[in-house]
Amino acid sequence: MRRTFSDCPLAKKVFIKSYGCQMNVYDSARMGDVLAREGYIATDAPSNADLVILNTCHIREKAAEKVYSELGRLRSLKESGMLIAVAGCVAQAEGEEIMRRAPYVDFVVGPQNYHQLAKLVSDANLTQKSSGLACAINTDFPAESKFDFLPEARASGPAVFLTIQEGCDKFCSFCVVPYTRGVEFSRPASSVLEEARQLVNDGATEITLLGQNVNAYHGDEGRLAGLIQKLSEIGGLNRIRYTTSHPRDMDKDLIAAHGNISKLMPHLHLPVQSGSDATLARMNRQHVADDYLRIIDKLRAARPDIALSSDFIVGHPGETDADFEATLALVDAVGYAQAYSFKYSKRPGTPASDRDDQVPEHVKSDRLEALQNLLNRQQLEFNKSFVGKVVPVLFERRGKLPHQIAGRTPYMQAVYVDCENSDRADQHFGKILPIRIFDAFANSLTGIIETPIERRESNLMGRLRG
Ligand code: SAH
Ligand code: SF4
Ligand code: F3S
Repeated sequence: MRRTFSDCPLAKKVFIKSYGCQMNVYDSARMGDVLAREGYIATDAPSNADLVILNTCHIREKAAEKVYSELGRLRSLKESGMLIAVAGCVAQAEGEEIMRRAPYVDFVVGPQNYHQLAKLVSDANLTQKSSGLACAINTDFPAESKFDFLPEARASGPAVFLTIQEGCDKFCSFCVVPYTRGVEFSRPASSVLEEARQLVNDGATEITLLGQNVNAYHGDEGRLAGLIQKLSEIGGLNRIRYTTSHPRDMDKDLIAAHGNISKLMPHLHLPVQSGSDATLARMNRQHVADDYLRIIDKLRAARPDIALSSDFIVGHPGETDADFEATLALVDAVGYAQAYSFKYSKRPGTPASDRDDQVPEHVKSDRLEALQNLLNRQQLEFNKSFVGKVVPVLFERRGKLPHQIAGRTPYMQAVYVDCENSDRADQHFGKILPIRIFDAFANSLTGIIETPIERRESNLMGRLRG
């Protein structure tokens, strides 16, 4: 793959570190594409780099604070002439604050402005040469779309991300995203399809469509189900996923697509945040728990083996013990394959942060522990239900041990398989192989290749469903 470390002493080197969600991972890859056009190659250590970019996340306080400690560590490397840039959602939300707390940062660039990266880097180099003084903050929401100015997309491996929708107009009480990413915007279908073809030509076989509210997608040719149908017609593309979805935007065509489009994987991340109607109202989620449960029923009717995952927040202001019990009840009712859960974190400028009914820290901790115990039990149970079955696994990389290869099931579980010849492990990457699962853990499965003959994924999936 292209973005690998090179020792070439002449090339300029960039180190990009991503925090936060998959959209930041996608943005980092695209920043790499922009800089590759300028002659930069990727390096895996900041000490080797001419340019370090921290692509930051503002979603919870801890995530945002990480940036300042990382900047502190990078400061000593500045003496060698390295440039430091801060990108992403902290850049967008608190550019001025970054410059105040870390004046040695060369420039700050928001998530909608990184197509201008080449100019920002060359300006920063000039500034550094002439005066040594910083800095530029580039966080205005530009009139143009960055997607129209980005170079051809390159695949970082067999499974890649593709952002199709950005921003959010929903304004949940707790969330910074509408402020950091701006208003909801969908890319035209033609531009998405073009990028998908580029990625497949470059070796991708699985694409995850991304958006903060990806199922609110409304392109020039219709909504998300229509786009997935078009993407499924691309030869060489075998797996399609999408994330993150909002229950309000789960329309009937999209639910039906889970039953009709075999390339659409049977896994859905559909965050509910809470099982209490009172909490959902305080969160401004615009639906009740029962709406969510009915969507799950319909999804299971369309695709009985669909694996579900969610995000949960415990201790949102005003949450009572009874509200929290309702969350546990919803988790019991759904039965999740996987989930993320967080303690509510106060975010500046969001309505929930001003409320005077904040939940004490120790109560949040107790609730988080109880919720995670339940979710972990469900996840292990889900994984154990695969022992003895044969599942199609897309292999993407080497595992933690030298002889292992790692991939994912259609349901997003990580699978590790021992490879007889570790020197030839790479030949499996990008292939979907039938794997007989022999053990299951909380976060992964292990298995063996069932047969050397590569079979069509759809046959196997049909067997699993039947
Ligand atoms: N658009 C998605 C979520 C994006 S943010 C949705 O609507 O579900 C990813 C997750 O971070 C959220 O689902 C939520 O669980 C968590 N999160 C967001 N703001 C938070 C906050 N202030 N405190 C704790 N968790 C938060
Ligand atoms: Fe944040 Fe809510 Fe928008 Fe999701 S839907 S990004 S949680 S405001
Ligand atoms: Fe974080 Fe921004 Fe994503 S706040 S979760 S990086 S949209």
